[in-house]
Amino acid sequence: MTPEKLCELARDAMTRSYSPYSGFKVGAALLCADGTVYQGCNIENASYTPTVCAERTAFFKAISEGNRDFTAIAICGGKDGVITGRFPPCGVCRQVMREFCRDDFPVYLVTPDGYEAVTLADLLPYSFSAEACMQ
Ligand code: THU
Repeated sequence: MTPEKLCELARDAMTRSYSPYSGFKVGAALLCADGTVYQGCNIENASYTPTVCAERTAFFKAISEGNRDFTAIAICGGKDGVITGRFPPCGVCRQVMREFCRDDFPVYLVTPDGYEAVTLADLLPYSFSAEACMQ
């Protein structure tokens, strides 16, 4: 699975975003070591706080299916589904990633003409993790 293909799957997931309140469509594609890809989109709610981000949808789908060996994630988003620039994950999603992924976990941020590759440590330096918690 190339980063380009994973980004394409994130774009595909974005089309299923349920976001009537913000108008921001977000998609994620989470690759596991066995080659399985879990797609996620953001799912909003009239009561606002139950809203879940695309990244966490993908992670929770994978984990609830028993798959926790993560290889990479691609993320895209934009107003009305138009990608004008990278769409970095929110702080809560970064912390969820850190629970299951190492510092060098690759995160592909989709851009209008490709993607920008960063690591989880780039996005969440000096992180609080399960390892720190269980000492
Ligand atoms: N959103 C995501 O799906 N992922 C993020 O990392 C940041 C925000 C969604 C939540 C909400 O539906 C919309 O984008 C605007 O905040």
